[in-house]
Amino acid sequence: MILLGIESSCDETAVAVVKDGAVKANAIYSQIAKHAPYGGVVPEIASRDHVKKMPGIIEQALAEANCTFDDLDGIAVTYGPGLSSSLLIGYSAARALSLRLNLPIMGVNHHEGHIYSVFLGDEPPVLEGSFPMLTLLVSGGDTRLVYMKEPGHYEVIGQTIDDAAGEALDKGATLLGLGYPGGPVIQKFAEGGNPNAVRFPRGLDNPGGEWTYSYDRKLCFSFSGLKTSLLYYLQKNPSALEDENEKRDVTASYQEAVADALTRRMERALKKYKCASFSCAGGVSLNKPLRAKLAVLSEKTGIPLKLSTSKFCTDNAAMIAGAAAIKLRAGLPFAAPEDVNPNLTLENWAG
Ligand code: KG4
Repeated sequence: MILLGIESSCDETAVAVVKDGAVKANAIYSQIAKHAPYGGVVPEIASRDHVKKMPGIIEQALAEANCTFDDLDGIAVTYGPGLSSSLLIGYSAARALSLRLNLPIMGVNHHEGHIYSVFLGDEPPVLEGSFPMLTLLVSGGDTRLVYMKEPGHYEVIGQTIDDAAGEALDKGATLLGLGYPGGPVIQKFAEGGNPNAVRFPRGLDNPGGEWTYSYDRKLCFSFSGLKTSLLYYLQKNPSALEDENEKRDVTASYQEAVADALTRRMERALKKYKCASFSCAGGVSLNKPLRAKLAVLSEKTGIPLKLSTSKFCTDNAAMIAGAAAIKLRAGLPFAAPEDVNPNLTLENWAG
């Protein structure tokens, strides 16, 4: 079974081809350079660029996979969550292809795509033995802990109550004058810096106060205080922006706070939920200190860790087509959306 996957939820125009879940092509065009001058994604620029690039990226993916439209058995497309105007471009392309080629259209939740990305590769995915699984979903807009008894069953057990981890890195990088996107520039600049030079907060450290969320507080994240703490630190210590070595230490400490806050929650979750494996997915899962900390946690607990190869960490369409293939094989139902859903969550996912 050959599926074409289309992803355009934010600033990547991506198209992939998977055969029985094995990735045959993974074409991605990133708009990062277009948004960098603004320090974040500008929705209007994003959607207009998707329109320009989508046809060429579809052709590129088919050529890479050495197949034609006639070889396809279905079209998998991200229909949420994301920027509505961006989602609509990928969705319209998928809808047009499905009508023209008389192929089924499969709506995939972007988060589901990230979750299953840890199983992707050149060979068909193997899920046996990995469930129940705990996933730390960390992208630009999301930070969540998801418990999956089995594929297709998503229980969000904790999430950020304010900023996402990726957002904290992006905003931190702006405060440090390092540029955009924050994660990669912070990681690069922090190399050789002392991660213990400054003790930044790990979020929700202090017990007490009102707790109005239904989630266990110990499994939730908060990054807005961390960003403010960096702001105050830089105001009190202006030399940290002038002296290269001092700035490197502050940057490494900031990155350490994000990676440590994430790993701590995963450690707590692994104590509470019995799992055959745990994973980390989404753009922030590319982060080297985070990957290293999670690997140590895996060694300590004896629970296998699953991480995606780097090309499947940030937004891509292989994860969308791959998720569709995995769900088809598991006999899980699909949404056949007639529209996009920018606020789609794992809980309200309809398929
Ligand atoms: O998953 P993704 O590509 O897009 C969303 O679906 O949001 O994630 C983008 C996020 C950005 O916040 C970016 O700063 C972060 O992933 N990121 C990283 C790294 N590479 C990208 N964060 C930490 N370390 C990295 N190496």
